[in-house]
Amino acid sequence: MSKNSDIKIYEYDAVIVGSGLAGLAAAKELTEAGKRTAVITKLQPLRSHSGAAQGGINAALGKEDSTELHEFDTVKGSDYLADQDCVELMCTKAPETIRWAERMGAVFSRDKEGDIAIRPFGGQSQPRACYAKDRTGLTLLQTIYEQADRAGIEVFDEWYAGDLIYKDGKVSGVVAYDISNTQPAIFNAKVTMFATGGNGRLFRFNSNAHANTGDSLSIVARHGLPLEDMEFVQFHPSGLGGSGVLISEAARGEGGRLFNSEGERFMTKYAPNAMELASRDVVSRAIMEEVRQGRGVGKDGQSVNIDLTHLDPEIILTRLPELRELAIAFQGQDMLKEPIHISATAHYSMGGIPTNIDCQVQKNANGDLVEGFYAAGECACVSVHGANRLGANSVLEALLFGRHAGENMIKALDEGIELRPATTSDADTMIQEIHSIKTSNGKESVPKLREALQIGMTADAGVFRTKASLTKQLELIDDLLVRFKDIYIDDKSDTFNTDLQEAIELGHMLESAKFVVVGALTREESRGGHYREDFPNRDDANFLKHTYATMDKAFNITTEWGDVTLGKFEPKERTY
Ligand code: FUM
Repeated sequence: MSKNSDIKIYEYDAVIVGSGLAGLAAAKELTEAGKRTAVITKLQPLRSHSGAAQGGINAALGKEDSTELHEFDTVKGSDYLADQDCVELMCTKAPETIRWAERMGAVFSRDKEGDIAIRPFGGQSQPRACYAKDRTGLTLLQTIYEQADRAGIEVFDEWYAGDLIYKDGKVSGVVAYDISNTQPAIFNAKVTMFATGGNGRLFRFNSNAHANTGDSLSIVARHGLPLEDMEFVQFHPSGLGGSGVLISEAARGEGGRLFNSEGERFMTKYAPNAMELASRDVVSRAIMEEVRQGRGVGKDGQSVNIDLTHLDPEIILTRLPELRELAIAFQGQDMLKEPIHISATAHYSMGGIPTNIDCQVQKNANGDLVEGFYAAGECACVSVHGANRLGANSVLEALLFGRHAGENMIKALDEGIELRPATTSDADTMIQEIHSIKTSNGKESVPKLREALQIGMTADAGVFRTKASLTKQLELIDDLLVRFKDIYIDDKSDTFNTDLQEAIELGHMLESAKFVVVGALTREESRGGHYREDFPNRDDANFLKHTYATMDKAFNITTEWGDVTLGKFEPKERTY
């Protein structure tokens, strides 16, 4: 690795970290507007996790549907914690976002009339998930990547962004290293955006890609900036039993039914009206309750059955081909012929880096802004999902708010936001972090610490939580943070050093896991995806608030509360 004096300083109008739908949408807008834009990504863009989104992207296109219904379903689904001004913006712009994607070349599935096909999804009063078979995210990612590439974005792929340049209330870029040779560089920019996705890998049983370690969350937190609503983790009802790999909600949208080991269609007990199409938090708790009561299926009894054998095989073959292939590949179960085993899998973080409606990052619960800093997609909390996200609203959020962030960055650039020059010393913290990991000859193994974290998160900070389970997990994380100081890595080289990268990522995972657990302990109520068995009811009088949490250098986390932006939908009891 080079000395500080060798460090290259790149200068851009805009630097975007992350190359999923949000990052690429922003980059495309910026580049087309003539702004010099760099995208930094630890992956090749087409490997971004947006490509794993299967079932759809919401927009009120149906004859019986309306923007207002979409808004209502989203706010109700959020257990009234979503900011209603942001929800209104998202739902209003959704139809135009679909047309924008289509004009760029996204090939959506069609209905018999030739219109964009829509399918039902959980927690929604109308079918509104527009889809491309069961590969919606991949279709959109390929389209936006092609168009961003055509516009001329500059991509630094397989680069790892390890630090933010943040001084005196302004962000002026990031520090990153080239994974191929561990060479650091500074990306100095007038405006900077994080669009790095989620942190589902905190959990043992999850639907996320290996890359989803939530690095940007703790990078932001290490600078004393807050994270919002981190306790709200979505557990998707249908991860393949054993692996957690996603079986899209489209399987239930197309008519899949859930059964326990006694052959009972158990959703009749938990959501008699919506049944399998209740919101995700409700269905996931129902599945885990059946498992807890000893009515699970599979080798370890930890799954339930989803049955699609009553459907016309043509529906599976034409609308769900990838799901069928996944279940055959991972479990040897063919959904055309037999039910398949599924269980609730960690899927999505509703919380993240707090932003205002224009994707500008906030530095506190009062809404004061960090200059030159934007975030969108899963790493951000704008907040349109509140305590529980509706299926097919995340692809929408990523594309729509990614584009919106791009437009707002263009505006800031046109208004004359200036480049604050970076110096090579801005890279000191990241270089020191790399050096100390590579020279550490401790006794703790990174994979073992990571596994302990993940097992604990699934067991004690998962679908069901109590003060005792969360306290146990907090003690484990504190212990792991101490043991993390005594790690070793085998690979000391500078060439594609994945040992080094995984060690850095583990540091980030431990810190963002602590935010999840401290938030969950502090929030003594149940709301959306956060279910406290010791506080089973929603408590609007005390907790209809956003959590803003900050971390000090010793990893102590302090929380304060921020207002929820209410609107036309008054909080009321949520039933399905
Ligand atoms: O089930 C799914 O297809 C996932 C979609 C989503 O998380 O929005």
